[in-house]
Amino acid sequence: MYCPLLFFIVLHGIFLVCAYNGWSSLKSIPRKTIQYEDNNVITFKEEGVWNYSTMLIREDLGLLVLGAREAIYTLDINDISVAKSKVLWKVTEEKQKECTSKGKHPDIDCRNYVRMLHQMNDSVMYMCGTNAFSPTCDYITYGDGQLKLEGKQEDGRGKCPFDPFQRSSSVMVDQDLYSATSLNFLGSEPVILRTSPISLRTVFKSSWLNEPNFIYMDVVPESEDSPEGDDDKVYMFFSENAVEYDFYNKLVVSRVARVCKGDMGGQRTLQRKWTSFLKARLDCSVPEPSLPYIIQDVFHVRHKKWRKSVFYAVFTSQSSSTDRSSAVCAYDVTDISEVFSRGKFKTEVTVEMSDVKWVTYNGELPVPRPGACINNAARSSGIMRSLDLPDKTLQFIRDRPLMDDAVRPITGKPLLLKSGPLLTRLVVDHVTASDGQSYPVMFVGTENGYVQKAVNYDGEIHIIKEVKLFQNAEPIDVLRLHQNQLYAGSASGVVQMPVSNCNRYSSCLDCVLARDPYCAWDVPAQRCSRVPTSPEDGKSNLIQSLKDGDATRCPTIAPMEPKIRSLVLGNNIRLLCYPDSNLAQVNWNFAGKPLPYSDRKYTIYNVGILIYNASAADAGRYTCTSVEWVKGRDYTQTLAIYDLREQSAVVVTDKIKATLGILPESHTTSSGLHKSEEPPWHSKTVSSESKWIVMQVALAMLSVMMACLLIWNLYMGHISPFMCCGRQLIKSPRNLPEREYMHTGNDAVDSKQQMVRLCVTTNSALEATSFHGNTTKGDTPTDVCVFKYITDESEI
Ligand SMILES: *[C@@H]1O[C@H](CO)[C@@H](O)[C@H](O)[C@H]1NC(C)=O
Ligand SMILES: *[C@@H]1O[C@H](CO)[C@@H](O)[C@H](O)[C@H]1NC(C)=O
Ligand SMILES: *[C@@H]1O[C@H](CO)[C@@H](O)[C@H](O)[C@H]1NC(C)=O
Repeated sequence: MYCPLLFFIVLHGIFLVCAYNGWSSLKSIPRKTIQYEDNNVITFKEEGVWNYSTMLIREDLGLLVLGAREAIYTLDINDISVAKSKVLWKVTEEKQKECTSKGKHPDIDCRNYVRMLHQMNDSVMYMCGTNAFSPTCDYITYGDGQLKLEGKQEDGRGKCPFDPFQRSSSVMVDQDLYSATSLNFLGSEPVILRTSPISLRTVFKSSWLNEPNFIYMDVVPESEDSPEGDDDKVYMFFSENAVEYDFYNKLVVSRVARVCKGDMGGQRTLQRKWTSFLKARLDCSVPEPSLPYIIQDVFHVRHKKWRKSVFYAVFTSQSSSTDRSSAVCAYDVTDISEVFSRGKFKTEVTVEMSDVKWVTYNGELPVPRPGACINNAARSSGIMRSLDLPDKTLQFIRDRPLMDDAVRPITGKPLLLKSGPLLTRLVVDHVTASDGQSYPVMFVGTENGYVQKAVNYDGEIHIIKEVKLFQNAEPIDVLRLHQNQLYAGSASGVVQMPVSNCNRYSSCLDCVLARDPYCAWDVPAQRCSRVPTSPEDGKSNLIQSLKDGDATRCPTIAPMEPKIRSLVLGNNIRLLCYPDSNLAQVNWNFAGKPLPYSDRKYTIYNVGILIYNASAADAGRYTCTSVEWVKGRDYTQTLAIYDLREQSAVVVTDKIKATLGILPESHTTSSGLHKSEEPPWHSKTVSSESKWIVMQVALAMLSVMMACLLIWNLYMGHISPFMCCGRQLIKSPRNLPEREYMHTGNDAVDSKQQMVRLCVTTNSALEATSFHGNTTKGDTPTDVCVFKYITDESEI
C-alpha cells in the first residue's frame, strides 16, 4: 500500500527537481542592474534621423562610420558624440512615388535605409541602401575630414534587401563582395552572391535555400599552413525552413554554410553557381526539450592561427510567444570544417507516391569529394580550378548540399541561457585576468535596450551586470567592439560604453564577488581597479577570484556609523538600503530581531522599507544587512544602520525641528497614502487593521523580548544585579530598554541621553559589521561620542 505511493512521491520529487534545475539555469539573473539614468554612456543621435543600424570601424582614420536612414556619419571613435561629418543619401521623389504605388508605406518602407558599409581601400568605401524598395549601392570617400558621396549609383539587387525589415549579410574579401539577401521585390528569391570578375550565386532550389533569414558571414584564411593545399573559405550563418524533418509543416533550423574563395563555378553543370556550397545544421541544445533554437547573430573571434578561431552565436526560442528564452553557443572553426570535409551527406529519397524524405547517404562518393575546395590532391590529378571538376562531383553537390551531421557547440551546451527579453546581438572580448588566464566575456544586446555582460566559468553561467543603454525598450540592432569600447546602435541612436568600469564596485566584497575578469581589488589603493594588461605589474596586491568568487582575503571593513532618523508619530517612514547585488538577500533587523515581514505595518522593497503610521513602539535600531551566496560561502555585509528616535509631531514644532536641522516629514498617514502613491514594488499588503491590536502585540512582544534579554544577560553575566545601569547601557547596547525612548515627548532634547545613545551606537556598529558570519566584536566600548543629528536628510 505504501510502496506505490512512496514510489510516486519519489518520482514526482525527481521530476520537480529536474524541472526546477532546468528552470533555474534559464533564470540567470544579472548580479547588477544599471538603469538608464546611471549608465554614464556617450550617446549620439540626430533629431529626425532614425535606424542607426550599420557600423564600420575605421581604425586607420580613428572613425566610426555610421549608416542610418538616409544619412551616413563619421564619428570620433573615442567620443562618438563628436560627429566629424555627415552626408545625406535620400530617395528621389520619383522613386518614392514608384514605391508607394506598389502598395508600400511612404514613410516606413519607401525610404533609404543604409544596410551595408564596407571598406574597399584606404580612401574608398562601398555602401548599399534599400532606396525605397529599389536597392542601390554607391561609393563614398573620406578626405580632408569630409565624407563625399560619389553618385555612381549601382544596382544593389542581391547585395542589399528590398525590404528594410529583412535581414541580410555581406563581407568584402579582396575587393570581392559576398552578399546574402533576396533578389526580388517580394523577397522570395534568396541568394548568396559573389560580385567579382566571375560572379557566382546559389541555385534556386529549396534544398539549397528554403526561405532563409541571413545572419552573418565572414572569411577564414584556411589556406594558411594547410598541408593539403586547401583554400580560404567564407562561412555564412542563417536560419531556414528545414527540409530534412517531415513531422512539422514548417520547422526552422539554424545553419552554417561555406563556400571556397577560389570557386569559379562549373563548366556545364553549375555554370556560374557555387560548386563548393555545403551547409549543415547548427545545434545549440538547451536542457529542456524544445524546438530547435533560431540563430540571431554571430561574432567571429579571430585568432592569428585560424584553427583557434571561434564563432559565438546567439539563439532564441522558436515559439517566442510562449517561451521567451535565448542562448549563446560557441563553435570551433575546426569542428565546422570537419563536418564539411569528412562528414556524411544527406540525400533525398522518394517514399510512397510523392513524399520525399532526407536520409543519410551511404553510397560511394565521387572523386574529388563533392563540395571540397581544389586542393593538392585534386591538382595532382589535373583539376586546377572548379571549372575542371567532373560532372559526377558537380551533380552530386547540386542535389545534395546538406550534410548529415550537425555542428555541435564547444562543451556540447550553451555558454549562456536566459529567459525573459530576447537576446539580439553579441560581441565577445577576451580578457587576461590576474591569474594570467584569458576569459571570454560576452556582451549581449537585448530586444529591450539592455546589454548583458556575461561569462561562463567552467560551465557556470554568471551574468556580471546588465546595463540599460536606451531609454525606450527598443532592440539593439548592431553591436561592435573596439579597443575596450562597446558601440551599440538602435532605432533611436548609438551609444558608446567602456567594457569595464571597475571603480563602480564600491567595496572589496563588491569587487571580488562581481567576478568581473577586468577588475580586481587593489589592496594598497583600497579601490577596485582594472587588471593591468602586462603580466607582472604588481598583481600580488590584487584580489580577484573569478571561478570561486572567494572574497575571504578582503580586508575587514571599518564599522558603520548609524544614521539618526526622527520618528514622528503617525507618519510613514522610509529607510533606504541599497544592496550591491541582485543575487543578495537583504535582511532587516529591528531592535536586534528580524523585522516581522508578515506584519502589515511594513512594506519591504528592493531598496528599503516603509514603516506605516509610526508609533512609539517603532523607535529603535534598524539594521539592514545583505547575504550573498557564492560557491558555498555566504558573505554578510551591513549596508545601513538607522536609529529611529521619536519626535512627537504635536510637541516638536517646526521651529525646533529647523533648529535641530530636521526637515518636516510628509504628514501622510497610512490611510492618507493613496493607491497611486503606493510604491509599485509594493510587496506586503497593509490594511487598516486595528492599531490597538498592533500596539498590544508589539508591547507583548517587547515585554517577552526584554524579559528574555534580561534573563540571557543575567545568565551570561553581562549584568550583575548590583551593577550600575548607566554604565551597562553603554556596554550592551542591545539591552537598551526601548521604553526609555518611547516617551521623550519633551520639547527640550535631553543632550545627555543623546550622548549615551550615540556612544552606544558606535559600539553597536562594531558588532553589527559582521563578515562571513564571523562577528567582529568591539571589545572595548568606544569612548568617542559624536553629537550628531541627521547626517543625510535626503535619505529619509
Ligand atoms: C580604391 O578603389 C576604387 C574602387 O575600386 C578605385 O577606383 C580607386 O582607384 C582605389 N584607390 C586606391 C588608392 O587604390
Ligand atoms: C526604424 O525606426 C523606427 C522608429 O523608431 C522603427 O519604428 C522602425 O521599426 C525602424 N525600422 C527598421 C527597419 O528597423
Ligand atoms: C495610527 O496609529 C494610531 C495609534 O498609534 C491609531 O490611533 C490610528 O488610527 C492609526 N492610523 C491609521 C490610519 O491606521
